[in-house]
Amino acid sequence: MKARIRRIFEKLSPEADALVLLNSASPHIDSSFFYVFDVPSGLFEGCAAVARADGSLTVLTSPLEEESAQQAARRDRDVSVEVIRGREEREKRLSELVDAKSRIALNFHELTHEDFLSVSSAFPQADWRDASTAVRKCRMVKDAAEIERLRRAAEIGSRVAREIPSLLRPGITELELAGEMEYRMARAGASGRSFETIVGFGPHGAEPHFSPQSYGLVPGQSIVCDFGALAQRYVSDITRSYHFGPTDSEMKRVHEKVAEAQKAALDQVRPGVPAKEVHLAAARVIDASPWKGLFNHGVGHSIGLAVHDGFALNPRVEEPLEVGMAITVEPGIYIAGKGGVRIEDDILVTPAGYEFLTTAPREYLEVSA
Ligand code: GLY
Ligand code: MN
Repeated sequence: MKARIRRIFEKLSPEADALVLLNSASPHIDSSFFYVFDVPSGLFEGCAAVARADGSLTVLTSPLEEESAQQAARRDRDVSVEVIRGREEREKRLSELVDAKSRIALNFHELTHEDFLSVSSAFPQADWRDASTAVRKCRMVKDAAEIERLRRAAEIGSRVAREIPSLLRPGITELELAGEMEYRMARAGASGRSFETIVGFGPHGAEPHFSPQSYGLVPGQSIVCDFGALAQRYVSDITRSYHFGPTDSEMKRVHEKVAEAQKAALDQVRPGVPAKEVHLAAARVIDASPWKGLFNHGVGHSIGLAVHDGFALNPRVEEPLEVGMAITVEPGIYIAGKGGVRIEDDILVTPAGYEFLTTAPREYLEVSA
């Protein structure tokens, strides 16, 4: 983790003497805490990490994760762990570890206002810096250990995506299918789901972020399943669309158009290409079709320790793709009242273009009722 911390400090502008990461209560945990501290188990609510430019790290852990934290520190000689009990003790120890007049960088992007007030009162003379951009830029480009975890998370997602057709039957509810998918991810080794599983049958598939309900599957409906696995804290994010036969011919054409849009977007992916070009390639295909205007979100985003990991592919983002970025490419067409199709893959940007992390079939598939 030393190399990651050093990279953050190289990118910090203006410079800082220390980087302090603070976790509040779940879900308000700073995912960058796990970027600098590689610990496989534990929630680490109310904990803190103090990183320095030489790559060293002090973790202030609650007693609830002490054993995991100590084990992780034994594997990394640049990390030391201390146990604190509560926010007051945490702030007191922080004020001993970091000089009162320091230039202290905080990750404003994931810091709660309450924690900011608390740490500010412990350091009335500090010169605060925002580390968000430096942290985001470092996290955008993955190292080998991160890629291995993303690959594993993607393999689990792909495996379950392949199994979904065998789970479809008349009357199965969206919640039952989502539960079955999550169980199968766990059985395949996931430590959890990377976000709330999306399953939408028929008209529900037209809402990109639909939350599954007690709504039964009816023959003739299309199905959107968007889900992901966690592997050692790294996510996958995959969407597959299925068609529970007999479906009408429009949804088949919609599926083929979305696949064509995804291919056009993927064809743009290579180092140096502005993110917006990937989006625009997909949008051009859909906007030249009978479903013009029915693609209503950005074509993708970065993935890593978070599912939306600080980098978006939409028409406003000029930032170029870089080797080592892990991103999704996920165009969709959404027909209100009828249904939707989205195809989402996780890919890694390589010197020659890209490599798929998710591998499940993406072609039109009509499953017999
Ligand atoms: N998988 C949900 C999303 O990317 O927004
Ligand atoms: Mn996504």
